[in-house]
Amino acid sequence: MKINVVTGRIENIKSDGAIIPYFDEEKPGELAERVDKIIGGNISRFIGRDDFKPKLGAVHMLYPDGKISPERLLLVGLGKRSEFSLNRLRLTAGKACPFLRMVGARDITFAIDGLGKNIEELAQAITEGSILGLYRFLKYKTNEESDRKKDIRTITIVSEDVSAVGDAQKGINIGTIISDATVMVRDMVSSPSIDMTPAIIAAKARSIAKEYGLKFHVYERGHLQKLGMGAFLGVASGSAQPPKFIVIEYRRGGKKPFIALVGKTITFDSGGISIKPAENMDKMKDDMSGGAAVLGTLRVAAALKLPLNIVGLLPATENMPSGSAYKPGDILRTLSGKTIEIINTDAEGRLVLSDALSYACKYEPAVIVDVATLTGACTIALGHEAIGMLGSDDNLKRKIRDAGEKTGERVWELPLWEEYFDQIKSDIADMKNAGGRAAGVITAAALLSKFVEKYPWVHLDIASTAWTDKDRPYTPKGATGVGVRLLTQFLRDYE
Ligand code: BES
Ligand code: MN
Ligand code: ZN
Repeated sequence: MKINVVTGRIENIKSDGAIIPYFDEEKPGELAERVDKIIGGNISRFIGRDDFKPKLGAVHMLYPDGKISPERLLLVGLGKRSEFSLNRLRLTAGKACPFLRMVGARDITFAIDGLGKNIEELAQAITEGSILGLYRFLKYKTNEESDRKKDIRTITIVSEDVSAVGDAQKGINIGTIISDATVMVRDMVSSPSIDMTPAIIAAKARSIAKEYGLKFHVYERGHLQKLGMGAFLGVASGSAQPPKFIVIEYRRGGKKPFIALVGKTITFDSGGISIKPAENMDKMKDDMSGGAAVLGTLRVAAALKLPLNIVGLLPATENMPSGSAYKPGDILRTLSGKTIEIINTDAEGRLVLSDALSYACKYEPAVIVDVATLTGACTIALGHEAIGMLGSDDNLKRKIRDAGEKTGERVWELPLWEEYFDQIKSDIADMKNAGGRAAGVITAAALLSKFVEKYPWVHLDIASTAWTDKDRPYTPKGATGVGVRLLTQFLRDYE
């Protein structure tokens, strides 16, 4: 699919469908009003009636019958003008494009005039909403060819203003880079664990590193033993798939300290000896979503040539039961030297992260951000609408929160008060890996906090946002690719 921009009036440009966003107001916007006059008042006649509610995301198709160049007109509601946001524009693009694909449109146009002054941001949002909304995971469908034939071919952003073209093109480029990386993450997360093993993720990371000129290294089991990553290796001990500790460095920030991004990369979480129930265990292929998001973010950072130094760490392994698996009651010695008593082998994410966070500290980073599908309790606390955020540094939390508001990948903070640490006290080791049912998101983060030393740190629990069971406007059912847009925005706005 190609996204481009042209100057002109949308009613004069041939297409299979022209998308006209409009506001839920007495006057829906200059453009909609002008087109309405040309096609004989079909919009104004029906707008506001029950068959044409101008709510956010509402789509309404009109057939202009040759009165204008587009075959179809798709009006898509932006809601109230005063509540307009880039995320709302992203939502409308994500709603409108799949709608037009469904009716067989191949080449479509999107009117951008009247939406605001920052053309670059508007075009970026339209690009993201379109690419992400049109996403399908067809790799395992044997009729893929016939499905692909129906894909949208071109989306043309249309503005009457000649001077908008340059900015729009910039926004399209940025939006495409970010969306393509998000699509890569969705594909990785949706892939079965047998096709997304630690070794396959390492190979993928290597090829991205090569393409974008990143420094790359994979540590194998033997080396990790020497380093002393007892927690990571403990989790890996039950799996026939060799673990990989993947390190990717992006350097374009001169002498600036590193930003460390750490992603939980459990390629399948069976629970291990504390095995999970069968129901929904298939979903546990998504337990590498954090690592994939970090990989996607590094790819974006490199493509955008951000003036930063970033290190990405992906502790990649399965969590499996077997004769060699780690067991409840075991005590693991972490890279930091601290010991952890295993209460439940299904609380494996915090274990692999504890070693990865210690490894991150070796970089003396400016900040550490970890992303992880860490707890089922996150779903209980926040549902599917927010990422759980906990951390040690208010300034860093504010930056992440702002990035969440901008991108629509919103975060919500939970407290990390001292009192909660009682729940992970062990009688015989420095701590235990499970703290009971109460405040599960918090006790998991409490354990992580013991491995970040003095560095400003934020933990993002994406357990309830990495996968969606319902279609959303630019997030169809399945893997969401959450984290890429959030972290990218955080990096672009950094300092
Ligand atoms: N990967 C899971 C968390 C998860 C559960 C993500 C459901 C998405 C959907 C994690 O490793 C896990 O199993 N956590 C346990 C921790 C418990 C044993 C302390 C949980 O949340 O039940
Ligand atoms: Mn688990
Ligand atoms: Zn897990």
